[in-house]
Amino acid sequence: MNDNGWMLRLESVSKSFTLHTQGGARLCVLRNLSLAVRQGESVALTGPSGIGKSSILRMIYGNYAVDRGRILVRNRGVVVDVTTASAACVLWLRRWTLGYVSQFLRVIPRVPTRQIVMEPLLERGVDPGRARERAEAVLIRLQIPKRLWDLSPTTFSGGEQQRVNIARVLVGEYPVLLLDEPTASLDPANREIVVEMIGRARERGTALLGVYHDPELRCRVAERTVDVGAFATSANSEDEGVTDGSFHTEALSDKALDPGDGSRSVAGGSAGNARLL
Ligand SMILES: Nc1ncnc2c1ncn2[C@@H]1O[C@H](COP(=O)(O)OP(=O)(O)OP(=O)(O)O)[C@@H](O)[C@H]1O
Ligand SMILES: [Mg+2]
Repeated sequence: MNDNGWMLRLESVSKSFTLHTQGGARLCVLRNLSLAVRQGESVALTGPSGIGKSSILRMIYGNYAVDRGRILVRNRGVVVDVTTASAACVLWLRRWTLGYVSQFLRVIPRVPTRQIVMEPLLERGVDPGRARERAEAVLIRLQIPKRLWDLSPTTFSGGEQQRVNIARVLVGEYPVLLLDEPTASLDPANREIVVEMIGRARERGTALLGVYHDPELRCRVAERTVDVGAFATSANSEDEGVTDGSFHTEALSDKALDPGDGSRSVAGGSAGNARLL
């Protein structure tokens, strides 16, 4: 079976939104999206504003439900289908596997910056002293001034908030990283630091799926692009049943859920999810 070393794999995913506050209007966004990201590979999503790039990352992170298809994430010898996983299983993935830098930082009021960055490690049971050390090292690397470490990022500048967001994810050293415009508010010097840190994550074997509007930056951080426009629905309508069934960027001959490498598949059933915890 062709396994291909993937860490993240989307199979024929379709997504629409029902706008309950607007008479139940239905907005069809994506149809039949398939892609895979291997260990140590960096893939960029491209396409015009509003095409569905952020929605893809949110579906993978478990924030948005999908209409159809599967989203498979592999780590620690386990394959999870995010689309059918229990809430506890999604939290497990977020703790151990999936790091996500959102396009817009949701700042947690009153929690100091250092604590925010330490949290991914504390949640995994890392010793607080060690977690603090690692968080501070990343904050220094990202040039967040020490005087800000004990303050909540609520009042920080856009670039400072974005760096806190990135620091939190980088400190976690997640096997799969989802990056939504991670450098959009950064000055050139900080952008370079983030590019270098992304490079190091790749060397560690992290699988990256990101959105980068700057084409030059995209070329530097990603080795392959997926044009989301190829999976966009041509019009917002009730009819989204037509699919071509093909994979856009690479041929994935293995469409079965069995990962074929001895790892356990927990896609689907709640009993399988329970085994994870
Ligand atoms: N929670 C939501 N409810 C309703 N519609 C949504 C929601 N999230 C996204 N959409 C719609 O889905 C479409 C895709 O949005 P998305 O944010 O994924 O685009 P994008 O490609 O990331 O755009 P940009 O480059 O501007 O960030 C848009 O038409 C948007 O209005
Ligand atoms: Mg977006």
